[in-house]
Amino acid sequence: MRSMNRKKPSYYDHDGFLMPIGFPIEGFISALRYQAQPSDVFLVTYPKCGTTWTQYILWLMQHQGEPLSPSEKLEDYIPHLEEIGKETIEKLRQPRVIKTHFPRQLTPYHPAAKYIYVARNPFDCVVSFYHHTRGFIQHYNFADGTFDDFFECFIRGEVDFGDYFDHLLPWYEYRDEENVLFLTYENMKADLRPIIIKIANFLGGDYLNCIENEEIINKIIVNSSLKSMKKDQQRWSSKRPKNMPPFVRKGKVGSWKDYFSLKQQQRLTEKFKIRTAGTALETLWPKIFKT
Ligand code: A3P
Repeated sequence: MRSMNRKKPSYYDHDGFLMPIGFPIEGFISALRYQAQPSDVFLVTYPKCGTTWTQYILWLMQHQGEPLSPSEKLEDYIPHLEEIGKETIEKLRQPRVIKTHFPRQLTPYHPAAKYIYVARNPFDCVVSFYHHTRGFIQHYNFADGTFDDFFECFIRGEVDFGDYFDHLLPWYEYRDEENVLFLTYENMKADLRPIIIKIANFLGGDYLNCIENEEIINKIIVNSSLKSMKKDQQRWSSKRPKNMPPFVRKGKVGSWKDYFSLKQQQRLTEKFKIRTAGTALETLWPKIFKT
């Protein structure tokens, strides 16, 4: 009975695929028709798994670690495919770096294109997704929704961009493909330096220049740090009302414990076990799954 009264965010339902109501649906439809180019690099994430952080790392790697100037917008360099649609992307010079939250079956594919996937544990992801959904009032109309309300939507997979596991599993399965680099938010938090080196070796070309110079690596680390990015909140999200948690919020691993009831913890663990059975996915997050 209680669940019938739960508040739900507002979504646009596109043939069963939910999108934020604030996203222009034309962008989504056009994005589905984007033809991946051999030189494209796709940054693919489920929402709230470290997209903006990785996006900025990629930008810093292209710019010798120098931060964006106040007049530059990250989204102009690394645009969000389904937010702006294919026409705007096609106007960008190649090679392009493109951000998407599309699940694997909707992500434009070319065997020569490269795909960086960033995964984050579902516990921290749902907490972050809750604050995101609450904060973007014009996108979801959920300002007074509670964590418990949002958790019910998340565990049923009834959130924008679909079920967390439907997103993660296919990319995990292809993690060893030559054109896929599979990263985790938690490993990035633990030590960013080897991740920057991995990214450079994966992308090659000009990206390799930055790892030849210790000073540039250090600049990338400092300028993409939580501390630096927190100072510049307006840049990452100008649409966030002042009374809501900022876009670069906690940036921690494990703070889900402040939100979850024991029952919720058991339910998400159970869903994780069922959906990831037969994979080694739980080894990605040993602290949660005690492997
Ligand atoms: P929290 O809400 O848990 O703090 P996305 O960009 O995919 O929407 O992910 C947002 C999450 O990444 C937020 O998590 C945000 O705080 C975190 N984040 C953003 N910049 C970060 C940084 N430089 N270091 C660590 N986490 C960062």
